[in-house]
Amino acid sequence: MKVIGWKGFWLFSTVVVWIAGCSSDPNPSTSEGKTSGESVQVDAAQAKETYQSNCMSCHGDQLQGAQGPSLEKVGAKFSSKEIETIIQRGRGSMPAQVSLNPEERKNLAGWLAEKK
Ligand code: HEC
Repeated sequence: MKVIGWKGFWLFSTVVVWIAGCSSDPNPSTSEGKTSGESVQVDAAQAKETYQSNCMSCHGDQLQGAQGPSLEKVGAKFSSKEIETIIQRGRGSMPAQVSLNPEERKNLAGWLAEKK
């Protein structure tokens, strides 16, 4: 019974984090509203700029991947919070991207989380 494997694990943990993220949404005014909790305001132009100067060399100019994996569907795999953590701490053979300030990191993570 090894059919699930890593993909299943990531899918599972993504769903768990997603659910946990929703229930702990500290946003009382929109609890009943129509605005989806996941959508953060993202400055796409700024995110692209941050991406180009910090990530493109390893993930490709079109997110297609190079030395690092493709990020074209990264939002289907990770939430923006998880992407922030990957940027901040690195992962596997990806080094932590310490030159981003917290705002750049958050904006970039939000932008990438929309790539599904
Ligand atoms: C030095 C090359 C390098 C740079 C620069 C780099 N990455 Fe990576 N990245 C990698 C490698 C290699 C992996 C695969 C890590 C692993 O899981 O072993 C990776 C994995 C990832 C993942 C997980 C993808 C997945 O499907 O598992 C995300 C998200 C990511 N990088 C985002 C970024 C972002 C955003 C930046 C810029 C702020 C960035 N990376 C900069 C090399 C890099």
